Amino acid sequence: MNPPVRHAVPPTFDVHLHDDWRMRALVDEVRTGLTAAPKQLTPRWLYDDRGSELFDRITRLPEYYPTEAEREILLARSAEIAELTGADTLIELGSGTSDKTRALLDAFDATGRLRRFVPFDVSERTLRDAATTLSERHPGLHVHGVVGDFHEHLHALPDDGVPVLAFLGSTIGNFYPHERARFFDEVASWMSDDAWFLLGVDLVKPVDRLMAAYNDPAGVTAEFTLNLLDVLNRELAADFDPSGFEHVGMWDPNHTRVDLRLRSLREQHVSIIGADVEVDFGEGEELQVEISTKFTRDQIAGELADAGIAVTECWTDTAGDVAVLLASKSTVGT
Ligand code: SAH
Ligand code: AVI
Repeated sequence: MNPPVRHAVPPTFDVHLHDDWRMRALVDEVRTGLTAAPKQLTPRWLYDDRGSELFDRITRLPEYYPTEAEREILLARSAEIAELTGADTLIELGSGTSDKTRALLDAFDATGRLRRFVPFDVSERTLRDAATTLSERHPGLHVHGVVGDFHEHLHALPDDGVPVLAFLGSTIGNFYPHERARFFDEVASWMSDDAWFLLGVDLVKPVDRLMAAYNDPAGVTAEFTLNLLDVLNRELAADFDPSGFEHVGMWDPNHTRVDLRLRSLREQHVSIIGADVEVDFGEGEELQVEISTKFTRDQIAGELADAGIAVTECWTDTAGDVAVLLASKSTVGT
């Protein structure tokens, strides 16, 4: 007998980031972050439609090793992950295009147990496109996209069945230490005894490789960070002149992270009408737009353990550039 024909199920969506929520969050952040010393904004604003496209181009730069290194691990280990976890639900935080996730979806699908994929991202256009493509590629799979912020809306994640929560691409490296600790605590409280956490991290490596990856000669990373000023001009009727700023990617050895900043090339005054804020930049003054933390395996396993999450497996790519950790709720002390 022929196997039953499975039809593509149209994706469904939950939207937690309505325009008024987004605008309020952006205004609050601009008022505090741009009047603070040093000036600082969180990276979520980098990912408008253009920012998401630019990030996608970054992943294809020869100097930007993390994407292909993580893909190597996922291609090699997805079948093992599917077997070890026995998952029926794959949730992906900061899913973006979910490009590398295809390896996981294929392996999970092959077990015959997978019934649901839940991509979760702040960037609505990218999420909708990825969800549509993947539901066509996996007939019978229910793709349920969640437009949300992982610092605010983790409560919206499903916790029934046997879920794997994937957080790939070392996006955890973009969190400040206090955000990371809070996030791991939230993941631990979300986890049932049957749930798994799959975490991708970038490992500490020689500084010249990091500098090449975050100051690429083609200037795509610079376009990505400078695009933030276009976002502020568009969303808050600000009058930033992007040609008055330059992209800076520098290594901070004390925090083992790359700091990504926009440096003002001259003294300048900016009006941000939508936030009712006037801001002065001195020549050489910097606005911190993103950090990208690099970890050792012991450090990340230790931080997870502090939250009550135990690492079962830790895989690296052949070059030892990045790691993917599979973890579950720790039973020690419970
Ligand atoms: N996971 C993909 C994409 C990483 S890029 C990969 O491994 O290549 C980081 C992703 O996180 C982007 O898709 C961006 O839109 C999303 N993102 C950034 N800040 C976010 C936030 N605060 N909440 C939810 N998603 C966020
Ligand atoms: C999404 N995140 C893991 C990227 C990183 O490497 O920290 C964002 C990025 N910023 C500049 N280049 C890449």
